[in-house]
Amino acid sequence: MKLIIDTDPGIDDAMAIAYAVAAPEIDLIGLTTVFGNTHVHQSSRNARFLLNKLGLDIPVAEGAAYPLGSDTHAPSEHVHGPEGFGDLTEILEIGSNHDLPAAEFLVEMARIHKGELVVCAVGPLTNIANAMRLDPEFTGNLGQLVIMGGAVFCSGNITEHAEANIYHDALAADEVFSAPPDTVLVGLDVTLKTLYETADFEDLARRSPDMGAFLRDISRFYLNFYREVGGLEGCGLHDSTAVIACSHGSMFNMVETGLRVETEGDRLGATQPDPARSVVRVCRNVDGAGVVRLFTERVASLP
Ligand code: BDR
Ligand code: CA
Repeated sequence: MKLIIDTDPGIDDAMAIAYAVAAPEIDLIGLTTVFGNTHVHQSSRNARFLLNKLGLDIPVAEGAAYPLGSDTHAPSEHVHGPEGFGDLTEILEIGSNHDLPAAEFLVEMARIHKGELVVCAVGPLTNIANAMRLDPEFTGNLGQLVIMGGAVFCSGNITEHAEANIYHDALAADEVFSAPPDTVLVGLDVTLKTLYETADFEDLARRSPDMGAFLRDISRFYLNFYREVGGLEGCGLHDSTAVIACSHGSMFNMVETGLRVETEGDRLGATQPDPARSVVRVCRNVDGAGVVRLFTERVASLP
């Protein structure tokens, strides 16, 4: 499967990228970056750093620095650390970004790999909405869009009503859901059922002394956030779960519904069913232990 991850690395984004590189059925052909967990230039630098560490030479196309609407949001430093990788603050600038901006790169790749390309969006949906605005054929050219975002049947994580990726650009998310491609939504409804605990990171680091240990080290900060704010002894494998859904749909229980997103007021970023809109497959349940196992097996195969 040809895959592009649209991402804001970010600790769980780093885990998802490592998983995609390790998964034999995935041909990762590029990363597009977006603001969110970090400023976009930090997302791009972190993406290039990771790819270099993973030994993969593929394009990183930088995307949106701000949401479509007027609201801007500070990076989630309290969740992902000041540079996006927890306590790690010295991150080398390696290589440079692709010539095309993210939305143009997505449009171009979808055209070249018509019907085959899967885009897994694990940050705010600004680049996806921009690609849809740029090319009316983008939606039809895509094989599938898999989104990490939303909290359709459960509470949010950034507010009571909203999940962070959707909240950070509610307008873009609503635009995507107003005329969605073939789309699977992997929201908090399932990603909080895939908790990765300290012992899982230790096991991963033992089996993969370079990449696994790197992920364990940057995740300490993230695990502390989960412990202090959520009282949880593990972090959600949010973005990895979405990448896993790209190829292992049978591990998920999905319901079909149209969706709309609140774009203002107290419920900003809430994702709610709207029968008048084209259907999206919303993941409602997951084999959480299976996702955790699969993640570890694959990432442990990396050096
Ligand atoms: C999502 O928000 C970000 O903090 C994570 O990287 C993930 O994509 C979870 O709500
Ligand atoms: Ca993310």
